[in-house]
Amino acid sequence: RTRLACLTSGGDSAGMNAAVRAVVKMAIARGCEAYVVREGWEGLVRGNQDATAHVETPATSPPLAGAPTAIDPETSKKKRGGFVATYGEGELLKEGEGEQTLRGRYIIRVGWDDVRGFAAIGGTLIGTARCAAFREIEGRRKAALNLVRHGIDALVVCGGDGSLTGADKLRAEWPEHMQALLENGDITQDQYDTYKHLNIVGLVGSIDNDMAGTDMTIGATTALHRICDAVDSISSTASSHSRAFVVEVMGRHCGWLALMAAIATGADYMFIPERPPTAEDWQTSMCNVLSRHRDEGKRKTIVIVAEGAHDCNLNPITPNDIKDVLTNRLGLDTRVTTLGHTQRGGNPVAYDRILATLQGAEAVEAVLSSNPSTPSPVIGIRENKITRRPLMEAVAQTQEVAKAIEAKDFTRALSLRDPEFED
Ligand code: F6P
Repeated sequence: RTRLACLTSGGDSAGMNAAVRAVVKMAIARGCEAYVVREGWEGLVRGNQDATAHVETPATSPPLAGAPTAIDPETSKKKRGGFVATYGEGELLKEGEGEQTLRGRYIIRVGWDDVRGFAAIGGTLIGTARCAAFREIEGRRKAALNLVRHGIDALVVCGGDGSLTGADKLRAEWPEHMQALLENGDITQDQYDTYKHLNIVGLVGSIDNDMAGTDMTIGATTALHRICDAVDSISSTASSHSRAFVVEVMGRHCGWLALMAAIATGADYMFIPERPPTAEDWQTSMCNVLSRHRDEGKRKTIVIVAEGAHDCNLNPITPNDIKDVLTNRLGLDTRVTTLGHTQRGGNPVAYDRILATLQGAEAVEAVLSSNPSTPSPVIGIRENKITRRPLMEAVAQTQEVAKAIEAKDFTRALSLRDPEFED
């Protein structure tokens, strides 16, 4: 039977836990053995200390933080929908010794009840990391070896474009890894024959909503809510004191969070990487709009700046530059607020729980219906329908978007993200 593992990678996003829960439960319901890999690609590179030692593992690993409390094994032993899921099957939440048991172990068998309560919790309970080792071929080879050692033949990866690029690399190099591991004596001929094909599926978990070809990524809606809440709060002070605020939001090279937050909060002006203002006239055009709003009786001024609008070389206008213009040219009492990681955390909104659950279930179906000749898919959503498309294609297209933005070809960037885009 299929042994399916799930991992979360890159920056955490709200809804990742709901995705893990859906993958684990759907996998068990479909008769697979379910595993989670703790700490993202890092955990897969490190493997388990108690596995046959070819892979270097550290003496200790960070404990699993914030997991819900353990449950009674007896009461959890129930028949559900024609299959029996027992507490004993899983290892994630062993009563009283969870963290101890998990020390030095990253690849963990899980049961139905191990993921209970996950849907409502922010971040990722199985941990994530930005893994330097996985960027090197040696790291990916260790990861391949650990998968084979644990007999895992399918992997669902939930992460942003960087993490899915890593997944795509592992997939592309798989035959090479297997050949090298066989020649090195790390795996047997039997293992080579059994694990010749890596079955890998991507789920897009990122607050940035920057993946080409999908309408929404897991966590973006929650982050947008956090931003709107923060801007609403700031608006109280702005109105009371008749002040201006420059609010910087996340999104890396993508302006989706800034644009949607500006619409949802009725902001006065915004800066996004996809439409950088020209260096010559940005001050004048911004001041014209803002003074008109003031002339019409508005007591507050809100300017939203995507971090990518000033981080990239395209347009080095910083929030402090904007503040200086508002202060000096318009005479506004101005403050800068950087929302930072408050945008990324907290409980997922209903939409992210639902999106992650539907996509997690679809990921398992994609694993079970795949064969060596079908390309590894990434699960998306288009026009409210859950979709599958080749992972390789989605990753390549997302990299093309980044290149187009760098080349200031914004129409191309936007139409790569969304084929129906019209300038
Ligand atoms: O990709 C998600 C994101 O939150 C970006 O919006 C931001 O630029 C980056 O991650 C911050 O990364 P870190 O938490 O590693 O500083």
